[in-house]
This record gives sequence, C-alpha cells and structure tokens, in this order.
Amino acid sequence: MNSEKIEIFDTTLRDGEQVPGCKLNTEQKLIIAERLDKLGIDIIEAGFPISSPGDFESVSEISKLVKNAKVCGLTRANKKDIDVAAEALKFAKRPRIHTGIGTSESHIRYKFNSTKEDILERAAEAVRYAKTYVEDVEFYAEDAGRTDNEYLAQVCEAVIKAGATVLNIPDTTGYCLPEEYGQKIKYLRENVKGIEKAVLSCHCHNDLGLATANSIAGVMNGARQIECTINGLGERAGNTALEEVVMILKQHKDLNLHTDVNSRMLNEMSLMVSDLMGMSVQPNKAIVGANAFAHSSGIHQDGVIKNRETYEIIDPEEVGVSTSSIILTARSGRSALAYRFKHIGYDVTKNELDYLYQEFLKVADLKKEIGNDDLSRIIETFNRKIG
Ligand code: KIV
Ligand code: ZN
Repeated sequence: MNSEKIEIFDTTLRDGEQVPGCKLNTEQKLIIAERLDKLGIDIIEAGFPISSPGDFESVSEISKLVKNAKVCGLTRANKKDIDVAAEALKFAKRPRIHTGIGTSESHIRYKFNSTKEDILERAAEAVRYAKTYVEDVEFYAEDAGRTDNEYLAQVCEAVIKAGATVLNIPDTTGYCLPEEYGQKIKYLRENVKGIEKAVLSCHCHNDLGLATANSIAGVMNGARQIECTINGLGERAGNTALEEVVMILKQHKDLNLHTDVNSRMLNEMSLMVSDLMGMSVQPNKAIVGANAFAHSSGIHQDGVIKNRETYEIIDPEEVGVSTSSIILTARSGRSALAYRFKHIGYDVTKNELDYLYQEFLKVADLKKEIGNDDLSRIIETFNRKIG
C-alpha cells in the first residue's frame, strides 16, 4: 500500500512565539522562516498580522522570502482581521488565511456571550469573506477538543460549504485523551457532508503531555495535516513538537504515513530556535534533547558499544546528530571506560582496566560526570605509579 503524505504546518512563529519571553523581531523570524522552508515544511504560519505592526511586517516579509512553503496568517472571524491578513500575505506565492472562532460551550457562553447559531453563522461568514482574497482558507474551531461532536460537525459542514479547504480541530486546552481525539477526527470524517473537499488538521496543546500522542491519533483516524512547533514551543505547556511527529511517522513505517521534512536538519533547527528564542531545550526532550542519544548506565553502555540498536531506536545521524555519546558517571561500567580511554588514545589491557576502573569510581563518586581531562589525570597518575 502506498504511504500517504501528512502535511506539516509549522506554527513556531505564531503559536510558538506566544510564549512569554520568546518574542522575535522580523529579522530573527526571517532567519527561522528560511530554514523552515529548507526543512521541507508544507505550511509556515508566519504570524497574526492584526496583532501588532511588527507582526504585520514579519508576515509580509516572510511572504516575500519563502519560496516553497505556503505562508499562512492567523485571523479572528471578523472582516478587519481578514483584510489585514490578506494585505500582509499579498506577496506570498501560496497564501493561506487561517480564520476561526471558539466553538465550545465555554467559549460561546463566556468569551462571546453568544449562541451556537450565531457562532455557526459568523464562522461561515468569515470563511466566505476570506475566500474573496485567497483560494486557500483554513478554518479553526477553537477549543474543538471540548466541543460536542454533533455541533462541531455542523460547524465543519457550514464552513466547507463556505469554501474552507482545511479544517483545523484544535485541542486548545490540551484536554483530550488520544483515543478521544482520534474518535473526534473519525466522527467528523464519517458525519460531515462534503468532508472529502477539505483536509482535517490536528492542532494539539500539551497541558497533559499528550499533544504528540493526540496528533498521531488524529492522523491514524484520517487527519492529513499536523500543526506543530520546533521544540514543542507554545503557550503554557506548549504545542505538538514537530521533531517528534516527524520521527514517529518515519520510525513507524507500519502507519503508512510520511512527511516531506528532511529529518537530518532537525537538530540544527532545534538549536537555532532555542538560541533565537532564548528558550533552552530540556536535556531529556525526545529527539532533540542533549541526552536523547546519550548513555550513562553500565548495562546500556555495554549494549550500545556492542550494537547501537540494543538501546537506540533512531540512528542519531537521521536527526543530524553525528554520534551517540557514552557519558561516564559512577553508574558506568568497564566497557564504557575502556571505550572512552580508547577514544582519547589509550588502549588499556584487561588488568590495567581492572585497576583504572577502581580509580575511576573513586573520582566518579565525587562528580556528576567524568570528562576527558579527568580520564587523562587518572591515566597519568597510573603511569607515574608504575614508573
Ligand atoms: O490552540 C488554538 O486553538 C489555536 C487556534 C488559534 C488555531 O492556536
Ligand atoms: Zn494553539
């Protein structure tokens, strides 16, 4: 069976940039957008043009710069927002307007003080209006994760009739369980008239640590676009991490789904975004964390030294990391120590290793990690001792 493509919609520059302290200027956004385009992203959400003159400028400049990806601007469901987004996107080769409105009970009641009928009408009206500017209009049903499926289906049907090409089903508050989110996508696929005219998109937040799992559940149930950010950046606990979904689809050939992202650029992309946004990546972050390919316990190290596949499911080169690393700590064993000695030019015999290992443990118990300088000192002391 032929593998089906999942479109990757990157929102690092919009949802990702909403993180407090992560504000980027236009120049920094252009650097990231250019790399995202090279990475093979299908859609770059460049910003929310009406939100500030700076964001308008960024979307406009990114539209001029990006060669391959579609460039998208966010709006609320009103004419002014859409007019401004259309103006910011006017230089884009492939522009997309992303408009929408909250559809859950709590958004309708508390945010809009409105009714389901009125929201449905406003949703369709916004899409119809956006269509007067661009062919490609994505609609988001904000808080779809907590919206009842029957009403969500009615909204989806109305916006498809109005011309929406993509239906974004955001789990805005990160509330859904994977099974539930997957079933929501399946329900829409089976119950929305005209659904074959639109692409269903997953946009998941990570409040319960389920954003990636929910996005995968979504595509397993028929969604064909995932919205995500580099390093999983985003409001509160963040969005679905781009590097995670890309590598899940790459590793799980059994899903018969793929993306066009060049995974070998993931590590440098992560470093660049972390650097420009001033947001460090947690060391144990999947795929791009500093420890993602580091081994420190004796049993694991022994396995990896014999054959990498014993404890690694991804070849680090596949994500742009040159090699796995063997970290020396008090939990490390003899084979890791011999491996690291060899690495710095010392081929030790078995008897020497037995002695050096005891010396190593004395130092390792006092430190978090043993570096090459510590190893050199251990060897030099040993050499002096044996004359
Ligand atoms: O999380 C969300 O609902 C959003 C929409 C504005 C698309 O980011
Ligand atoms: Zn979001």
